[in-house]
Amino acid sequence: MRVLVVDHPLVAHKLTVLRDKETSSPVFRLLTEELVTLLAYEATRDVRVETVHIETPVTRTEGTGLVKPTPLVVPILRAGLGMLEGMTRLVPTAEVGFLGMARNEETLEAITYAERLPDDLTGRQVFVLDPMLATGGTLREAIKFLFARGAADITCICLLAAPEGLATLQEELDGRNVTIVLASIDEKLNEKSYIVPGLGDAGDRLYGVV
Ligand code: URA
Repeated sequence: MRVLVVDHPLVAHKLTVLRDKETSSPVFRLLTEELVTLLAYEATRDVRVETVHIETPVTRTEGTGLVKPTPLVVPILRAGLGMLEGMTRLVPTAEVGFLGMARNEETLEAITYAERLPDDLTGRQVFVLDPMLATGGTLREAIKFLFARGAADITCICLLAAPEGLATLQEELDGRNVTIVLASIDEKLNEKSYIVPGLGDAGDRLYGVV
């Protein structure tokens, strides 16, 4: 497993505004999309490409095309949905599948409550969107699920991670073809498994407390 923290002043700035508890929901949604586009630029560095032949108005030449089937993007509901637009803006031809996962607030175990994905992901390149890598439980289950369907390599785009969650994933996914792309690794988890300093509940801040 590889971890990449995107070090860029615009990422740091947008993240600072996201963390601010005074930032309103509409601004939070917009900034999340912008931030994901910046992270996606780095996360797609190894997207599969092939040589294509085209004609410019002047001559025939070679260029770069995305290999088909194009990457599968999987936002984890609910908060990952707020990241989808930022990702598909950069890779508009990507296919999109959905995984609904929530953590049981008492046991902190991840449960899958919805799934809309191709049955066969053999050989596919998959990008998972989940803003908060806290205990790592949700992402671990999502990654296992996708590998079980045949995914070949999985890149997770997250806004924040706690060192505890990253350590869990590192331990359990050692040697697997997984990359985690992040805007920041924060300090720790608190007693309620929230990331500190974090930004609060990402789903609530995107969509309100429902
Ligand atoms: N999920 C969130 O939305 N925020 C956290 O800090 C941890 C998990």
